[in-house]
Amino acid sequence: MQRTFSIIKPDAVQRNLQGQILADIQAAGLKIVAMKMIRMTRAQAEGFYAVHKERPFFASLTEYMSSAPVVCSVLEGENAIARYRELMGATNPANAAPGTLRQKYAENLEANAVHGSDAPETAAFEISYFFNAFEIVG
Ligand code: CMP
Repeated sequence: MQRTFSIIKPDAVQRNLQGQILADIQAAGLKIVAMKMIRMTRAQAEGFYAVHKERPFFASLTEYMSSAPVVCSVLEGENAIARYRELMGATNPANAAPGTLRQKYAENLEANAVHGSDAPETAAFEISYFFNAFEIVG
């Protein structure tokens, strides 16, 4: 059993797509064991994406991620990290396979509807960044 961290990003929440995206996640067999809707501060977004702080898109990304509410969740299942990444599709929706969340819902490379952890270490960091142990109730 493995856990991964998911964000339904501002573009998707603004278009009222969080219910559809959560339904797709559940239909894929991933179990939601924690969930909250928040609006990140700029500083929270900068801390969350600190691994990208030297990248040219860092300022724009953190401004965007703090521009409107997001839905954060913890997903559980066998091989959850890889399974959720497969469900999301490629980072750039132009390259995302048919049926993936980004192909179905994303607007562009930055406003790409969803985020998911890419490895066990990042999943542990990202889950603990937004949830404490009492908030994970699966
Ligand atoms: P995410 O999976 O949340 O991880 C970092 C985010 O940066 C990525 O999704 C995109 O929303 C955003 N981003 C913007 N430009 C780029 C880029 N050139 N390469 C990768 N990610 C980018």
